[in-house]
Amino acid sequence: MTTLSFEGAPLLVIGAGIMGAGIAQVAAQAGHTVQLFDTREGAATQAKAKLAGTLDGLVAKGRIEPGAAQATLARITPVAALEEARGVRLVVEAIVEDLAIKRALFKQLEALVAADCVLASNTSSISITALASGLAQPGRLVGMHFFNPVPLMKLVEVVSGLHTDAAVADAIFVLSKAWGKVPVHTRSTPGFIVNRIARPYYAEALALLLEQAATPPVLDACLRAAGFRMGPCELMDLIGHDTNFAVTNSVFEANFQDKRYMPSLVQREMVDGGLLGRKSGRGFYRYPEGAAALPVAVHEAPATAREVTVHGHGPIADALEAAATQALAPQGWGPAREPGSDWTGLSIDGARLVLTDGRTAGERARAAGVRDLAVFDRPLQLPAAPGTARAFAVSAGASATWGPQAAAWLSALGFAPLPVSDSPGLIVARTVGMLINEAADAVLQGVCTEAGADSAMKLGVSYPAGPFEWLARWSVPEVVVLLDALDHHYRGERYRTSPWLLRQPATPR
Ligand code: NAI
Repeated sequence: MTTLSFEGAPLLVIGAGIMGAGIAQVAAQAGHTVQLFDTREGAATQAKAKLAGTLDGLVAKGRIEPGAAQATLARITPVAALEEARGVRLVVEAIVEDLAIKRALFKQLEALVAADCVLASNTSSISITALASGLAQPGRLVGMHFFNPVPLMKLVEVVSGLHTDAAVADAIFVLSKAWGKVPVHTRSTPGFIVNRIARPYYAEALALLLEQAATPPVLDACLRAAGFRMGPCELMDLIGHDTNFAVTNSVFEANFQDKRYMPSLVQREMVDGGLLGRKSGRGFYRYPEGAAALPVAVHEAPATAREVTVHGHGPIADALEAAATQALAPQGWGPAREPGSDWTGLSIDGARLVLTDGRTAGERARAAGVRDLAVFDRPLQLPAAPGTARAFAVSAGASATWGPQAAAWLSALGFAPLPVSDSPGLIVARTVGMLINEAADAVLQGVCTEAGADSAMKLGVSYPAGPFEWLARWSVPEVVVLLDALDHHYRGERYRTSPWLLRQPATPR
């Protein structure tokens, strides 16, 4: 196969469940005639009837013309037997997630369809290489991984296994674009792009819960404040802990039990106890009520200081200087500035309020020889809106007054301070650092490009930015320092720094 085009080509979609019905809709809306098959009797006809209702709704809302809705529906034909579906140029499979069943189906298809018919699988976790193995023409099998709900989600991961013909992957890429999607090429590795790079979003929250560093409402508030649409705990409740745990397990097992991907005891306990999230009425939160809003803590103004200096350089130090200037203005003076310091934060009469670099407050207090020290979490968006949640932790040996003073200062600087245990990298820096690390490994291993990872995470799981966009705003050396601090603290394999990061040039990206 050299050049392939599916323009106007007839399609067969197999599996008329959630995903197959959505794929059939999108293909028919793009002008393809679609045959729809499901082994469950009547399923394809029911899916078509349901789609008729959906299209009626879109017409009623003025989103599509009545003629377009009718034409879309007319292009879809339920078929009662696979043998009826001859003449198609592309088959998209969206049946049960089972290697043996999918393999058997593809073998059966090879005997039915033409030699140049492409076979695509919507599998979310099965190796495309394994699916193709044993086929007479394994080069024509490719992954076409849509996201749920198919008509709304823009991302399509185009997955190449070891056998997949490059021309086949390219043709599916072009076709996905023609369907109004944003395709991203990826190699057949566990979790592909999105389900792999997203693991730390859940794993770091679960790790912090396991060591009782923070509560679900605090974790959610901090990550929402960083721009994520949902915090990790409310998101796991929405996905369902059984589903989320199964995906984590499958990525863990598929990576030969690499500790990087180790599932959490916290989540297993919830699954075992039937606390599956929204669908079971209880997960981290109870439903239908959901998460209660965090009580707003009122902090008194910090005690009058004799000396306030903003240390460090760059946008975060600049934002701190602006906030400290505003906070001190009523007293008629402003902060000093020490741009040459190798740390970012405030010194207040010798005490330190320090931006996390991955080390704990205790470690930093010891290193600096300072008793009263607190670390605060990294802002991802500047300027931060007033009242933005910000986790902070106080060094263990600090004086009794320092904790409340650190909170009062963070509050005076415009944040909503949330105390957490003295854990490395706090919440946002640790989570985003690990998302970057995972994306870096994916690029190192040729799973995707940097741009592909960014698109996939923004479109597949609605992240506010892609991992490499965060990295560009942060810096490679700072991320490496953070990961090394985590690695040193936990002394396991989980936080090992991606060699991709270590090999970046010293100059800023
Ligand atoms: P579903 O359970 O809603 O639908 C699967 C359909 O396939 C059912 O109607 C079933 O009767 C039919 N089926 C089972 N075996 C069959 C066979 N041998 N031949 C023909 N039809 C058969 O499942 P869903 O959620 O649509 O998932 C389908 C595939 O898409 C799976 O591989 C899944 O991993 C993948 N996927 C699912 C996503 C989701 O959010 N649900 C997202 C992305 C991929």
